[in-house]
Amino acid sequence: MWPGLVQTAKEGGVDVIESYVFWNGHELSPGKYNFEGRYDLVKFVKIVQQAGMYMILRIGPFVAAEWNFGGVPVWLHYVPGTVFRSDNEPFKHYMQNFTTFIVNLMKQEKLFAPQGEDPISQDNELVYIIQIIENEYGYYESYYGDGAKRYVTWAAKMAVSQNIGVPWIMCQQDDAPDPVINTCNSFYCDQFTPNSPNKPKIWTENWPGWFKTFGARDPHRPAEDVAFSVARFFQKGGSVHNYYMYHGGTNFGRTSGGPFITTSYDYEAPIDEYGKVFYFSWYLTVSVFSARQPELKYLMDSLLGLPRLPKWGHLKELHRAIKLSEHALLKSEPTTLSLGPSLEADVYDDGSGVCAAFLSNLDDKIDKNVVFRNVSYHLPAWSVSILPDCKNVAFNTAKASVVEMVPEELQPSVTSPSKGLKGLKWDIFMENAGIWGVSDFTKNGFVDHINITKDTTDYLWYTTSIIIGENEEFLKKASRPVLLIESKGHALHAFVNQELQGSASGNGSHSPFKFENPISLKAGKNEIALLSMTVGLQNAGGLYEWVGAGLTSVKIEGLNNGTVDLSMSKWTYKIGLQGEHLGIYKPDGLNGVNWVSTSEPPRNQPLTWYKVVVDPPSGDEPVGLDMIHMGKGLAWLNGEEIGRYWPIKSSKHDKCVDECDYRGKFFPDKCLTGCGEPSQRWYHVPRSWFKPSGNILVIFEEKGGDPTKITFSKRKTSSLCSNIGEDFPMVDQGKAAAHLKCPKNTLISNVKFASFGNPSGRCGSYSKGDCHDPNSTSTVEKACLGKNECSIELTEEKFDKGLRPGAATTEKLAIEAVCT
Ligand code: GAL
Repeated sequence: MWPGLVQTAKEGGVDVIESYVFWNGHELSPGKYNFEGRYDLVKFVKIVQQAGMYMILRIGPFVAAEWNFGGVPVWLHYVPGTVFRSDNEPFKHYMQNFTTFIVNLMKQEKLFAPQGEDPISQDNELVYIIQIIENEYGYYESYYGDGAKRYVTWAAKMAVSQNIGVPWIMCQQDDAPDPVINTCNSFYCDQFTPNSPNKPKIWTENWPGWFKTFGARDPHRPAEDVAFSVARFFQKGGSVHNYYMYHGGTNFGRTSGGPFITTSYDYEAPIDEYGKVFYFSWYLTVSVFSARQPELKYLMDSLLGLPRLPKWGHLKELHRAIKLSEHALLKSEPTTLSLGPSLEADVYDDGSGVCAAFLSNLDDKIDKNVVFRNVSYHLPAWSVSILPDCKNVAFNTAKASVVEMVPEELQPSVTSPSKGLKGLKWDIFMENAGIWGVSDFTKNGFVDHINITKDTTDYLWYTTSIIIGENEEFLKKASRPVLLIESKGHALHAFVNQELQGSASGNGSHSPFKFENPISLKAGKNEIALLSMTVGLQNAGGLYEWVGAGLTSVKIEGLNNGTVDLSMSKWTYKIGLQGEHLGIYKPDGLNGVNWVSTSEPPRNQPLTWYKVVVDPPSGDEPVGLDMIHMGKGLAWLNGEEIGRYWPIKSSKHDKCVDECDYRGKFFPDKCLTGCGEPSQRWYHVPRSWFKPSGNILVIFEEKGGDPTKITFSKRKTSSLCSNIGEDFPMVDQGKAAAHLKCPKNTLISNVKFASFGNPSGRCGSYSKGDCHDPNSTSTVEKACLGKNECSIELTEEKFDKGLRPGAATTEKLAIEAVCT
């Protein structure tokens, strides 16, 4: 998918790709490197190079990134005496080794521009412009005492001594030693200044959305606010700006960090998680300012990636406006003028006639009119207008692009296996609820989960037994004793005598939790088997590698003697599951157990492996596995790790928004949706993992679900939307027009919504306002029905403009149309 994604970024007006390097993905054990498949770093960089783009490489080696253990290999935590990210010999040794290894790899491939005496040949153009060492260490220095400063100085020196001829930078490190450049990571960086006037102002992470955690709501950042932040940065002398993420994709397998980060790392980024959709069946062509500037048309039928609209399109226009101003931006520093309260102009004018200006309204509620160089401009609240010639507005951040698509969600596929995986032949294998095979060890008391599994698996069994006397009162009554468990994290299923009694987990990023559930005990010996689980290792924070997981207390309440504490009992441990151990999800391990065949796979049965042969879903759209009817577990297709699934819901009592006001400072909890919904329902299965037939889907279900209801869903666009204001375009020539174009060989079959007036809402859920021209739908239908493409100008003849005499705001036209 890489070439398509890089191309879509380029089409979006991006000219540099920044990427992390994941140390734990590349160095599997000391000195044993992996650059295969998705870890082929050189291949990725060369794709960027071939696209004629630059590269910023974030070697880390610590990265955070919601990636398991922040990117640092788990084995390093177990090298005696190691403390991560500090003035610590083993850590520095391995960090230097890895950094040097990556730098040398890039050098061998001649990917740095200035490589000593080497002439730079034509086909070997400059790729790297910047390398990044460490990441946001500044936030956590206080955890590391005096050694922190020594570590920063060492890291900078070690990096610079690699002698690669391109600058090194450190994010969020105010005291980055020269010549290393300190940079900003935030939702806004206009006010940031580097620690020396000789250093450029660089923004390494602008978060255009946010990540998701299992059990939490879904965050959104409006495109208008992202554009506002970027425009403000260039208004205030910024030189390099990077979106984190522009495409986040999927963290397959167990690579998500956490705890509790979902496998979807969509991030509501300008390119969606599924990456690719438009070729063959669906693609959409949009022109926004067609009457005015043909170059502003973005033809998405040439694209291979899946741009998220309106974000991708809005930022593309922003990038274009900034590039139009480049000549002036590079010639001088900006001069700031006040245009009134919360109103600011910054002018790049060196007197040579080359001039660009940014006009901003920082008020988060009130639209304003300003006069700049004798011309009056309308500035919506919380917006920036870019004037590449100091006269004409090329872009305003609040006037978001007018084209969107629905749905954000996946649709069940229309052909097999749309009805789920019913009627297929299943193979079943059940895990033992407790120790399988020979136990690993016994101990009086508890061990730390991660210290034992070393993250080779999510699972660790803690088992013990208890003898219940026949004279226990509860046996005579209908009451049941209560099992009380405390754990450092992350999740747990409790079994007694092979029966699941209940489950518990931490929530959000808070991993410690308590379990409290009545349990069924019988007279005599009772086997207690507790399956403790990690759900992605901590990926950031001071001394984060020491945050453990696993049980700390187990008690049973309601016995004749009151509460019995089992914490110091003899516990028998087993690492991982038998199926994992035998690799029964891998093509060469499938026959490792005796599967039981059935056409009626068991439902709601814990600890069950399911195997089924499936056909690929028809067509070419991206595919997601719909796991809403399952409990929690792991999934593989043809041995490739889809990853952890867990359709755990966020609380329906939390606060969610219908619409997000772009105005005012953004923060991750500002605009949340999906209250009471699963945080992640669909799990991306790349098309390339499917064979034409005979695909083997393996699921390990921990607590019980209905596998016959699993479906492959397809990511497709069902409608197009256009939402345009009368004040588009802002420059006088041409008229504002909505322009819709369906994919090839399809026609506009239905106008689901049309309103000229003050409609509100988003694509897919528009609603009429108190001002609405009743002829809107018929006007749009007349212009569009049965056509492949249509445009509707916002003229007097077409629409009733006298709807709200004297109204302060301009009318808008919102349309949602269906192509079939
Ligand atoms: C930053 C960090 C990134 C990522 C981001 C949140 O602080 O550098 O790696 O974790 O936060 O998505």
